[in-house]
Amino acid sequence: MEAENNEGERPKTAGDQDRFEAIVNLSKRRGFAFPSADIYGGMRSTYDFGPLGTLMLRNIKEAWWRSIVRERDDVVAIDAAIITNPKVWEASGHLQTFVDPLVDCRNCHERWRADQIEGVCPNCGSSDLTEARPFNLMFKTFVGPVDDESSVAYLRPETAQGMFVNFLNVMTTMRRKPPFGIAQIGRAFRNEITPGNFIFRMREFDLMELEYFVPPADAEKWFAYWCDERMSWYRRYGIPDRLLRFHPHAPEDLSHYSAQTSDIEFLYPWGWGELEGIANRTDYDLTAHSEHSGIRLEYFDQSTGERYTPYVIEPAVGTTRVMMAFLVSAYDEDEIGGERRTVLRLHPSIAPYQVAVLPLSRKEPLEELARDVLRRCNSTFMCEYDDTQSIGRRYRRQDEIGTPYCLTVDFESLNDGEVTIRERDSTEQIRVPIENVVAELRDRIEA
Ligand code: GAP
Repeated sequence: MEAENNEGERPKTAGDQDRFEAIVNLSKRRGFAFPSADIYGGMRSTYDFGPLGTLMLRNIKEAWWRSIVRERDDVVAIDAAIITNPKVWEASGHLQTFVDPLVDCRNCHERWRADQIEGVCPNCGSSDLTEARPFNLMFKTFVGPVDDESSVAYLRPETAQGMFVNFLNVMTTMRRKPPFGIAQIGRAFRNEITPGNFIFRMREFDLMELEYFVPPADAEKWFAYWCDERMSWYRRYGIPDRLLRFHPHAPEDLSHYSAQTSDIEFLYPWGWGELEGIANRTDYDLTAHSEHSGIRLEYFDQSTGERYTPYVIEPAVGTTRVMMAFLVSAYDEDEIGGERRTVLRLHPSIAPYQVAVLPLSRKEPLEELARDVLRRCNSTFMCEYDDTQSIGRRYRRQDEIGTPYCLTVDFESLNDGEVTIRERDSTEQIRVPIENVVAELRDRIEA
């Protein structure tokens, strides 16, 4: 389970607070994330992702999938059930230990995580708090029509267990031997006591997890390897080094399953906080499931007679934390031709739209030509077509949502068959023949 950095909850300076609020406002105003069920007043700390947020989250998953699954030959993926047999959570230790310390304020009756508030209620300032008691973060539900103890099930708080209980299925059907990995992207649910900081801590979120099974003697080597790999991934998608660091966990902060954990931390507007966790889970989970199920979850090499329970190295990260980090590191305000602009300097593979097609006029024959340009581009890139308002305002709108390239179709295009490519960060413009546009953009966009 995530170890918390209390430094995390409040912005460090007024400037950071303003910047954070600007990002939250932009996200709501431009359709990245809306308070959930807004028309009923929302639901505390719960968000629905709008059209741009949905595109960005898809791109984040795709970028992770690309580096973890597609570009490797030692990782396969699964898609396991969310409502899992409760025996899984008994064996994994989540029923007993997936808990946070809960305290009640006797004055205002708010509830808090004891380790986040240093003995004082953040709501009313009272220090008249109850003793801390363990609160299990798993959401409980009932399977079938009868609400009794025999039908209790839990929504998964991590996707990892789906990979452990399918270890043998995957290893045998895919003819694998350690080192090899199983990856999964899927919904996870945690009844967090105090969610917050916009989309940083949510009660439901998508997890991207890799369980990488290795010979026990090689675990330390692979742990270091995955720390490097994952840090490089953030750099590859444009997060600068000054906003990233490793935070190795002290032995007393380790989760119940971990022998070694290092977080990749990000400098959020409120301070350093966890972005991703990388853990050496040892053989804890496979051994626990072997004991509880009676099925030996081991690797056995028939040719050598070698038999062992693999150790597991696990990089795990939530998509919404990654989105938050990308938004924070990309948000910028600058001046173009004496005019202030807001710009999201997102990596082209992460930005909601890669291309915006902007005809200078709505009238024919320009519209027909612009629609042709759109058709050429939209099988390769996510595109937006915008023919409203002045061209300057349309550029500003695209800058604000991070679109790296605008294609302007003007009256000259009708004569010379060329369009203008306008680059978001430099605002530079070049003319390119329409038949070369897709190739030209592909060269620039591909990471
Ligand atoms: N299987 C290991 C595991 O789940 P974790 O540190 O509890 O480890 C992994 O969670 C990652 O999931 C975190 O590093 C963070 O990116 C994300 N995460 C955890 N709790 C979250 C929450 N309430 N809201 C959003 N993301 C969360």
